[in-house]
This record gives sequence, structure tokens and C-alpha cells, in this order.
Amino acid sequence: MPGMVIVGAQWGDEGKGKVVDLLAEKADMVIRFQGGNNAGHTIVREGVHWKFHLIPSGILSPGRLCAIGNGVVIDPKVLTGELDELRAKGVDLSGLRISANAHLIMPYHMLLDHAGEARLGKLQIGTTRRGIGPAYADKAARLGIRVQDLLDEKILKKKIAAALEPKRLSLRPFAKSPELDLQSMTEDYLTYGHRIEQYIADTTRITWKTLDEGGDVLFEGAQGTLPDIDHGTYPFVTSSNPVAASAATGTGAGPKDLDEIWGVTKAYATRVGSGPFPTELDDELGAAIRESGGEYGTTTGRARRVGWLDLVALRYAARINGLDHLAITKLDVLTGLGTLNVCTRYRGVEEASFDAYPYHQTVMHQAAGDYERLSGWDEDIGDIRDERDLPQAA
Ligand code: IMP
Repeated sequence: MPGMVIVGAQWGDEGKGKVVDLLAEKADMVIRFQGGNNAGHTIVREGVHWKFHLIPSGILSPGRLCAIGNGVVIDPKVLTGELDELRAKGVDLSGLRISANAHLIMPYHMLLDHAGEARLGKLQIGTTRRGIGPAYADKAARLGIRVQDLLDEKILKKKIAAALEPKRLSLRPFAKSPELDLQSMTEDYLTYGHRIEQYIADTTRITWKTLDEGGDVLFEGAQGTLPDIDHGTYPFVTSSNPVAASAATGTGAGPKDLDEIWGVTKAYATRVGSGPFPTELDDELGAAIRESGGEYGTTTGRARRVGWLDLVALRYAARINGLDHLAITKLDVLTGLGTLNVCTRYRGVEEASFDAYPYHQTVMHQAAGDYERLSGWDEDIGDIRDERDLPQAA
């Protein structure tokens, strides 16, 4: 490797977990660099289903260092729940490290996320309502509570009080919510602190040390390129940077430590939440692909929007992330569909045509896919393990 980044090349849910799980077998360390428990993936190992939201799935390999980097926002209730579940299943957690600098999702972040979406009404983003956006907003506003704050009662209480103050107005409907009581919130978060204390560490130094000693580090991205807050379909995006460059800032690794970049894409496209989706199949075919692909969210259970493979967006993702490799998942879902469409350009208003991803939101909102039609295949490819055994059409 030695520094290897894995990112989503579409709108998220590309099957990154599967690829990370495979590559993690050779890695000395896996570290997540952004997002929070808006992400989630399911791993099936020897018939056992494992659901992960925050902890890298590499934890299933005993002794491997698995870290949650500074760029992640952590809901400690979800984290401690995940720890309890893994412990109950007998997983060795000694390799877990949690960045002391990672920011925390607080109860008011979740309330703000709900309230914000309700206020937007029809214009809502369709967030996961996990408090992700408000937590990153507080980080930028320098009102965030960090993991290290959990270890000092006085500091914690002072910081929570300061963070709560400016939110009073937006949280007025929740004023009487017991969740917003300063004293009990501080106590709850101190308890979380005690429960994760043994895992809190300087994950940046651990990453450097692993790399400097010639070890292999896997930088695990969440979501995908098009929900990137800077480069995606703003404002219908998440509040972090899921692109490869963020593997450096979200962990403390230097940009030159990122030696190899892998993108993951499905053989078709999906998107959760609102926002432009030029190749969307809002019809029976889309519904059929949703069913055979099991396109329902791991975290929220929401039905995903489904569409044809979008090569305009994929070329954009390849460039933004500097992809060296592309893993294509779920090709078998397209089996038996007959002719398949692949979007090679976008069509806009008045016969406009784009082969590059348009930067302007209006253009993107009006874009529709221009397709190349490819013949499909009927052979069952589910058990094929070698590219050469695939039908020619696949
Ligand atoms: P948030 O990240 O919860 O603020 O949601 C912002 C947007 O990103 C919404 O459209 C979500 O559906 C989308 N999103 C967030 N996490 C994921 C994910 O893991 N997969 C796919 N979409 C996601």
C-alpha cells in the first residue's frame, strides 16, 4: 500500500464496507476520516451479519488497529451501544482507538437536525436526522464538544453551557425536553467518557507511527463524492468532505501519505434523500432494481432512489479523488434486465449537452441522462470470482 484510501465514487452506499473488509485483511491499521453514524454498512462473515455505524469493520480481525479519526463526528450513545454489541459477540476490542480531537454529537444536534428539516418543509435535504450537520456546524463555529472534553467535568459543563446558549431560540419548542437539561447532559456525557476512556488516543501519532514503520494504513471514507459539502450537489449534501483529500485532514496524515486511492461504484446508481439525480429511474424498472439490489438504508431503512450508471458523475469522481482503482459492485443485480443504459453525457435545456459535470446547480437540476444502450446478459454471475469468467456483455 502503504497509505490506501477508499472512497465512494457515487452518492454513497456503493458497498465500500465490503471492499474495506477485503483490503483490511492486509492492513495494519484502518482509520475512518469523516462522517458519523449517518453511515452504516453490513458485513456478512461466515453467515453472521454485522452492522457497523462508527467502528471500522476491521475490528473483526483480532489485534488490528482500528481508529476513529479526528474528522469523524461521534454520537457516544451509538458508539457505546456498538461497543456493547461487539463485546457481547466476543469481539476483541483491544485494537480500537478513538481520536481525542473528534467532535461529539450532542442531544441538541439531533433536535436541531429534526427542527431544521421540519422548517425547510418541501425543500428539506432528507438528512439522516442523526445530528451530523449541526455537529459539524458547531465544530466550524468553535462551539463543538470534543472527545477529550469528556474527561474533565468542569470543562465539559462549561462548554456544553456555551454551546447551548446560542441555540435557545431554535430549540424553544424543545425547551422543556429533559434531554436538554445541562446537569443531566453533563452527567450522561461524563459516563460515556468513562466508558470509552481506555480507547481515547492521539490517533494522528498512531497513524504516523504505523506509516513510518512501514505498516499499511487503510483510510476508510463514508458516504460518497457527490454528497461532498464542497464538490457535491450542494445543498443536498452531507456536512463533511467524503473525498479522498479529506483522508489527510480527517486523520492528520500528510497528503503524501496517501499512496493509493480506490473508488467504489455500483454498476448502477442510487441516492438517498433529496437533490438532483439525472439518471433516476422513477418507474417499475427502478423499483425492480431496488428490490433485487436490496436498496434500503442500513442506518435509516429508507428506500433508496435508483438510476442508471452515470459516467459523467463517475468521471468527475475519478478526477476529484485521483482514483488509481475502481471497484464495481452489484453487477449481478443487472442480470436479466435486457438492454442496459449507461449515461455518457447530460442533456440540458434547449438541446444543451454536457460531457463534464456541471458546476452550476440550475444546470445540474435540469440535467437528464443521455444514454448509450448496451446489451445485457441472462447468465447467473453471482458465483463468478474471476473477471475472465463473466459473460462478454457484463
Ligand atoms: P446527513 O449526512 O444526515 O446530514 O444527510 C445529508 C444527506 O446525505 C442526505 O441526503 C442523506 O440521505 C445523505 N447521506 C448521509 N449519509 C449517507 C450514507 O451513508 N449513504 C447515502 N447517503 C447518505
